[in-house]
Amino acid sequence: MSSTAFPILLLGSGGREHALALKLAASPLCSRLIAAPGNPGIAQVASLAPGLDILDPAAVTAFARAEGAGLVVVGPEAPLAAGVSDALRAAGIPVFGPSAAAARLEASKAFTKQLCDEAHVPTARYRRFDALEPALAYSAAHALPVVVKADGLAAGKGVTVALTHGEAEEALRDLFASPGAEVVIEECMTGEEVSFFVLADGNAALPLLAAQDHKRVGDGDTGPNTGGMGAYAPARVFTPELQARTMAEIIQPTLNAMAARGTPFAGVLFAGLMLTETGPRLIEYNVRFGDPECQVLMALLETDLAALLLAAARGELAGRAATWKPGTAAVVVVAARGYPGTPAKGGLIADLEVAEATGAMVLHAGTALDAHGRLVGSGGRVLGVTAAGPTVAEAVATAYAAVEKISFADGFCRRDIGWREIARERADG
Ligand code: AMP
Ligand code: GLY
Repeated sequence: MSSTAFPILLLGSGGREHALALKLAASPLCSRLIAAPGNPGIAQVASLAPGLDILDPAAVTAFARAEGAGLVVVGPEAPLAAGVSDALRAAGIPVFGPSAAAARLEASKAFTKQLCDEAHVPTARYRRFDALEPALAYSAAHALPVVVKADGLAAGKGVTVALTHGEAEEALRDLFASPGAEVVIEECMTGEEVSFFVLADGNAALPLLAAQDHKRVGDGDTGPNTGGMGAYAPARVFTPELQARTMAEIIQPTLNAMAARGTPFAGVLFAGLMLTETGPRLIEYNVRFGDPECQVLMALLETDLAALLLAAARGELAGRAATWKPGTAAVVVVAARGYPGTPAKGGLIADLEVAEATGAMVLHAGTALDAHGRLVGSGGRVLGVTAAGPTVAEAVATAYAAVEKISFADGFCRRDIGWREIARERADG
């Protein structure tokens, strides 16, 4: 590989992208980091291009070319589904992120389920419906709990794990109220969930780490689902044996099937797994890093991120390895009051340097600068307070000590991030 540094363009504006930005900006391969649209935290290590429409493949390609970008890193899924990677690849610009055809692994649950059938990937039994009446009949006869999901992107919030048939019916009526709705009804799997991340270059695969996320808004995993209120890594429940099984039974068959269809997957494959009594089973795929899982992965990654992502973009992953710092990392998400409903916006945020003096890192997600240049909340998940430590208990303690120092009257966080692992650590002595 050439040792000449080049400009890198990063697309996205969340906590995930702030974590990626810190690693990319520190890479010897990076001469200059440009982020679109970015956020005030990312602006500390990158120049921002807030006006670029990151969902417009032609606009992104023209901008990347004008900036002389030697690598474009796509953070969120929407630009991938919109074909941004395809346009960049066609223009000969290395891009980290799958084609729109390969991004269907996240964009379409029906596509993924069919691929799982063909490739014998263990996942929940399911049926797909495009009309209410047959869906109601099927659901009424289904064992409980039963899972009801909307198909398509942004369907994340449309998952109901129904404990009663009445609840399932309500979810179905709700989903089919939208014209053209497509719905998947599936068996409920039980076990512990992990988020497992694998880099792929269309050919070779390089496993990264597994993390555990906290999807519910409230302590004790109560309340509505969110994008994720905190995470820790590595997830020790995902043992080397389970990882090897997952690579052999889930990841490799998926990558092989994608290649065989003529739509090889290159980018990061995020497998949401249920560790059931009979082994790991796929809940769903995402085609991007998790947020906030990425924040803890980046806190632990030792290998140069830009080199890894460029290798994935160029089909040069074979023979590469990723190395990780010993110990653990945890992230506590500070969200704005009201999230995941309508979050309060505009509340002043201060004392982030005081918080970072504890040894934690404060990553920006939904932040903005107001007319006076003051930092304010501008979204649901506002900050990701990230810390490392020899144990999850210690990493989380550092993160919470930092959270205490932050002045943000409109913010709240869960108080029990990492609880499953902390209980295991206590049991281990
Ligand atoms: P998603 O929004 O698709 O990430 O799903 C949200 C959550 O719903 C997942 O993290 C799981 O906790 C749960 N879930 C989805 N599908 C199933 C299933 N088949 N069995 C059990 N839980 C599920
Ligand atoms: N934290 C889960 C996700 O990024 O989808």
